[in-house]
Formats: sequence, C-alpha cells, structure tokens
Amino acid sequence: MSHPVTEFLLQRNSFARLTSPAPEGELLDTLFQTALRAPDHAMLRPWRYLVIEGDALKRLGDLFASSALNADPDLSPAQQEKCRKMPTRAPMIIVAIASTQENPKVPEIEQIVSVGVGVGYLLVALQAEGFGGMWRTGPLAYNPEVKKGLGLTAEEHIAGFLYVGTPEGKPKAVPTHDVNTYVKKWN
Ligand SMILES: Cc1cc2nc3c(=O)[nH]c(=O)nc-3n(C[C@H](O)[C@H](O)[C@H](O)COP(=O)(O)O)c2cc1C
Repeated sequence: MSHPVTEFLLQRNSFARLTSPAPEGELLDTLFQTALRAPDHAMLRPWRYLVIEGDALKRLGDLFASSALNADPDLSPAQQEKCRKMPTRAPMIIVAIASTQENPKVPEIEQIVSVGVGVGYLLVALQAEGFGGMWRTGPLAYNPEVKKGLGLTAEEHIAGFLYVGTPEGKPKAVPTHDVNTYVKKWN
C-alpha cells in the first residue's frame, strides 16, 4: 500500500459533466494556493488566473461565438451556437494564463510548463475537496480575439480553460498504464 497521496494521484480523474456548486471563498483561495506552489524557475511567477462564473460565462459564450465566426466566416449558425454554449458546461471556468517574460535563464517553454503544473495541482486539489475539473483548450484558446476579449497581452498564452464544478453521474474508469511503455533506463 502506497502513501494516501500517491494512492489519490493514481485516482486523479477529469470530469466532463460538472454542475453547481463550484468551490468558493476560502476554499477556492486554498485551491489556488496549490497552483501557486508549482515549481517555478527563478521565481518568475509566470501565471495568472481568471475566474469566470454566472453571467460572465454567458459573455464568454458570446465572445467564443463571435470570435469563431470572425475566424471562419463560413461557420454555420449551429456551430456558432455550439461555441456559445461551451461555457455552460460547468458553473465555473478558470482561465489559466501563461504570463511569460523574456529571461536569460528561463526559456518560455519552462515558464509554460510551470503553469501546466499549477493547473495539474488545481485538478488534484479540486478532486480532493469533492469537486472536479476538466482541462480544455481547442482552437478558441489560440484565437487572438478571444485572448484580447479576456484581456491577455500579446505575450500571454491561454494554457487552458479549466471547467470546474461538482461531478455529475458516475466517474469514468481511470485507465492503468504499463510503465515500461513510457519509462526506460538510460545507461
Ligand atoms: C493542455 C490540454 C488541453 C486539453 N484540451 C482538451 C479539450 O479541448 N477537449 C477535451 O475533451 N479534452 C482536452 N484535454 C484532455 C482532458 O483534460 C483529459 O485529460 C482527458 O479527457 C483524459 O482524462 P483524464 O485526465 O481523466 O485522464 C486537454 C488536456 C490538456 C493537458
């Protein structure tokens, strides 16, 4: 039997179906504190997070739909509607932003990896507290109009839209992996 933390990590799951409530108040702050503990070369803190809830989710849907249409004027009304509805899949979306900066010692990839670790910690901590999350991106995460609408600078990247809430329905089975497929000794 491994340590409970190890056992818990082995059960880490993404939850596609999320409903209210989402975490709030002090608990939400504590969850973010876990993300802020991500390893961080030269302590650049190359991250920031936006919390989107309630009516702001509707505005995010409008931003998704109009930005998708501008990127592809042939987008069908049904596809536009699909984009508009995306943010309604959870009661909260956390936008994880890589606020990368030029640094002689820390290339951009290291800074982006740091943000990803933070999102991973958030996912684990959410699940530990009885909530759940799903890390999503898709073309809208790289759409310049979406980035502008969310207030990102030209240098910033959306590392992910973390959909957050209370898991609904039965969780999917967690896959097991053959470690040897991915891990080899190097001599
Ligand atoms: C950067 C990143 C972006 C992702 N974007 C999507 C996405 O847009 N849609 C999706 O269904 N899954 C996406 N995923 C995968 C899911 O978050 C999740 O990892 C996957 O469904 C496997 O489930 P699991 O995490 O429980 O193993 C993304 C994962 C990462 C790391």
